[in-house]
Amino acid sequence: MRTMELAGTQVPVIGQGTWRMGEDPGARKREVAALQLGIELGLSLIDCAEMYGEGGAEALVGEAIRGRRDQVFLVSKVYPYNASRAGVPQACERSLRRLGTEQIDLYLLHWRGAYPLAETVEAFERLREQGKIRRWGVSNFDLDDLHELGEPACATNQVLYNPEARGIEYDLLPWQRDRGMPLMAYCPVGQGGRLLHHPALIEVALRHRVTPAQVALAWALREGGVLAIPKAAEPMHLRLNAAAARLILTAEDLALIDAAYPPPDAKQALEMV
Ligand SMILES: NC(=O)c1ccc[n+]([C@@H]2O[C@H](COP(=O)([O-])OP(=O)(O)OC[C@H]3O[C@@H](n4cnc5c(N)ncnc54)[C@H](OP(=O)(O)O)[C@@H]3O)[C@@H](O)[C@H]2O)c1
Repeated sequence: MRTMELAGTQVPVIGQGTWRMGEDPGARKREVAALQLGIELGLSLIDCAEMYGEGGAEALVGEAIRGRRDQVFLVSKVYPYNASRAGVPQACERSLRRLGTEQIDLYLLHWRGAYPLAETVEAFERLREQGKIRRWGVSNFDLDDLHELGEPACATNQVLYNPEARGIEYDLLPWQRDRGMPLMAYCPVGQGGRLLHHPALIEVALRHRVTPAQVALAWALREGGVLAIPKAAEPMHLRLNAAAARLILTAEDLALIDAAYPPPDAKQALEMV
């Protein structure tokens, strides 16, 4: 598995998302097995959030990593409405308990809310001093938010990024690259929807004898500074996603995708799901 540096650690360029996991008790065994297979395949960065299944995803991850905590880089996120001086440590304790660990590797503010950023950052820094988190970062921040944050200690910004949503290439992505702040691409396979049926992605996939989802992942990773966190409960999807780290797209492939999904030529509002 190809790696890159995130928060002072080498992590795989492709990890595992967990949104909509841990919600259905009937799917639990299958989801735990999927996360464990992903770890074995090298997708050892796991992204969750207190929001996902209202703690259900974190509890699922906790079960999946029992006995293998040292093999995993854990990311979780605090709700904006818990992002106060008093709320952050309480939310973090709950997440730690559900995850069954003493430390979260990277703790993110899920999106901007009403609490002043300085207050959230102060709470994050305290958790770092206490060893409850290793590093912190943000999610769904546009460039003006990052300017306002003005924090070199911010380890990442996790945002929507795939060919259908590439507005960040105009300003946010280059800015993060210039500063060496890795970008975590969420929904990198477009939630398994329309994107994977686009003729351009299908054509590129046929050229390389891969699948459109693998093309989407290779596309997100094509210039470095980006890691992708596809969610997959289907074992075949996990195998394909892990293999996508080896796929390198050609200039012709990229031109075809550009023709289908043109790069931005002006500022666009940050897209979110
Ligand atoms: N910070 C934020 O605000 C935010 C927002 C959204 C998402 N996220 C994070 O990013 C992760 C990824 O986003 P997402 O889950 O919304 O969307 P996604 O990863 O783009 O898509 C997930 C869907 O694609 C399918 N899939 C996965 N790999 C595939 C493959 N190789 N071929 C075909 N289909 C494939 C999955 O099916 P199966 O499950 O059946 O395998 C699932 O239905 C989330 O799980 C979450 O951790 C963060």
